Amino acid sequence: MEIKNYDFAGKKAIVRVDFNVPLKEGKITDDTRIRGAVPTLKLILEKGGALIIMSHMGKPKGKVKPELSLSQIKDAVAAALGVSEVKFAADAANADAEAAALKPGEVLMLENLRYHAEEEGKPVGIDKEDPAYEAAKKEMKGKQKDFAKKLASYADCYVMDAFGTAHRKHASTAVIADYFAADDKMLGLLMEKEVAAVDAVLSNIKRPFVAVMGGSKVSSKIGIIENLLGKVDKLILCGGMTYTFAKAHGGEIGTSIVELDKLDVALGVEELAKKNKVELVMAPDAICTDGLDFGTMTVKPGSTIATYPSNAIPAGLEGVDAGPEAQKAFAAALKGAKTILWNGPAGVFECDDFCAGSKAIGDAIAEATAEGAFSLIGGGDSVACCTKFGLTDKVSYISTGGGALLEAIEGKVLPGVAAIKGE
Ligand code: 3PG
Repeated sequence: MEIKNYDFAGKKAIVRVDFNVPLKEGKITDDTRIRGAVPTLKLILEKGGALIIMSHMGKPKGKVKPELSLSQIKDAVAAALGVSEVKFAADAANADAEAAALKPGEVLMLENLRYHAEEEGKPVGIDKEDPAYEAAKKEMKGKQKDFAKKLASYADCYVMDAFGTAHRKHASTAVIADYFAADDKMLGLLMEKEVAAVDAVLSNIKRPFVAVMGGSKVSSKIGIIENLLGKVDKLILCGGMTYTFAKAHGGEIGTSIVELDKLDVALGVEELAKKNKVELVMAPDAICTDGLDFGTMTVKPGSTIATYPSNAIPAGLEGVDAGPEAQKAFAAALKGAKTILWNGPAGVFECDDFCAGSKAIGDAIAEATAEGAFSLIGGGDSVACCTKFGLTDKVSYISTGGGALLEAIEGKVLPGVAAIKGE
């Protein structure tokens, strides 16, 4: 079913959103994901439906963790929707009474779905090597179905609008769809928009296609990096993974973050880039320090801040941002690009002393976009960079997805989409 054709009048819609938003002392620091879901939620209310909103927050792994309670964001959601109240059900698995009492135009939010291990459907507290693991997994899959069925029982129809979590086959993102008829389940407007943005990149690549992948670990991005090496003309690899590449060539990296067991992976990436004739761009220099306080994201007074080649960082210093030469190299690589994908910052951008590398990338993307490129930005940190540098209106599309976006770009069918479309 297409959401624009569905008659919500008098119906209760259970909507999976991704309200896994960053919080600081209980306050939302980036509401991109909430704003992203608003068109779908408002549409349902305007069409005379009642809303049951469900989401996860963080990774509580089946435990109740008050710091991950969605009750902290319900007033912000009410404000975003322009309603006087968002009611709250403190236990997603026991919200029958609250759901039954819901009237058209009213909004109910369920507590963090991941307080229940059934949401993810993975056995908790048992090692994969344990002989009893397989039986525990099977049992949990059964419980996951029961949980999904319970969630489905609250509503007349199901809307999947959690693009950020659409790569997870969880009770609320996929399994629940089995409990609705084809005519009563649909993708939300955000999902439609996100899928179209990915299509815009993949189905009609205008060249040069330049991807920027940042972040601390090459291992966590290896799937997408290998995949992109079959698609892009240039690949900028930046952030903490720089030092794994430098180390792989015998460089000195001081106390910089490194994956010592992934040096061969880094060398493999370089080989593949050469084979596919993709220009790999990495930071030749790094801004280094010995005094970054990751708690406050400030530099302790009296600490060293200095620039060194990325492969000649003195002992005791840590590379925390791309250096001036790297910034120039990144900007040059992005100049003239016609398709751009950015995921992951170039340094510890949260600290004002170490955000220049990420800013150089953001500015170059904005410039290329002004000259006609299609730029797609995904992942919480890159989105936060765009916000911090005032670039949100200067790029083509900001995705609410991190891992989900990367899997979609890899060409994988997302379970959250498959559950609705039956692919
Ligand atoms: C995200 O923040 O990428 C999504 O909310 C998915 O979260 P997860 O990686 O914990 O499943």
